[in-house]
Amino acid sequence: MTQATRLDRPSETVAERPLVFVTLGAPGAGKGTQALRLAKELGLPHISTGDLFRASLRDGSALGDEVRKYVEKGILVPDLLTMRVVEERFAQPDAIAGAVLDGFPRTRPQAEALDVLLARQDAHVAAALYIEVDTPELVQRLAGRRVCSGTQQHVYNLATRPPRAAGVCDLDGSALEQRPDDRPATISARLARQLPPMYEVVDHYTETGVLHAVRGDRPMDEVTADLLRVADRAAKRA
Ligand code: AP5
Repeated sequence: MTQATRLDRPSETVAERPLVFVTLGAPGAGKGTQALRLAKELGLPHISTGDLFRASLRDGSALGDEVRKYVEKGILVPDLLTMRVVEERFAQPDAIAGAVLDGFPRTRPQAEALDVLLARQDAHVAAALYIEVDTPELVQRLAGRRVCSGTQQHVYNLATRPPRAAGVCDLDGSALEQRPDDRPATISARLARQLPPMYEVVDHYTETGVLHAVRGDRPMDEVTADLLRVADRAAKRA
């Protein structure tokens, strides 16, 4: 699928400084789809704050109680709470090499806090990969998304990536569900509330010189190929 390999960066560098990519985009832009592919290709963990929050809702943990009122209504979780979760995830051994971040940072304060977190390890964001998709397409994608209820949360789309049997995950046979925040009223709220802070994050990475924009309204494999080209170049510079 790609020219990028895990060997594009000398291994001693990996051991010393984490290689971190940010995927940026509106809800439904394809961050999750693409971040998973990039992580697999680059041999880095995929860290999604949305997945971490949804796992806490399923577990019934204290974190789940704290974040439910935000996530289910499509409102951003407060920055301090989000940073606590991110710092805990970054402290896990697999994140030593770095990560492909999905859905984080979502606000300028989160982006600045990530810079501070990485600076402690003499590192910085290698590239912020901004996946651009127009609003009508986003609404259509979110409304058509179905997610498997198994632990892997495989993602389908009724329009563009339907399962072979209606309502059933091709990969593990679990029932497919609609995310509570993918219902029509919540989709509008997410876009209205979350796009302005996202544009501030885009500005932050433009100012720091690591922003790369890619059109996301194309076949998934084409988007992946472009993102991998950018990531490969950034990995060589890092
Ligand atoms: P999160 O899980 O991050 O949701 P999101 O940003 O709203 O993004 P989505 O998961 O909806 O979309 P995506 O861009 O990953 O698209 P996907 O690949 O699935 O966050 C959920 C909530 O958690 C937030 O609302 C907030 O409350 C909270 N939260 C999370 N992080 C936070 C943070 N840092 N700070 C504060 N709060 C936070 O694709 C969408 C659909 O399109 C799929 O069906 C897919 O199959 C399809 N698709 C993808 N690519 C293509 C393509 N190229 N062509 C056609 N269809 C495509």
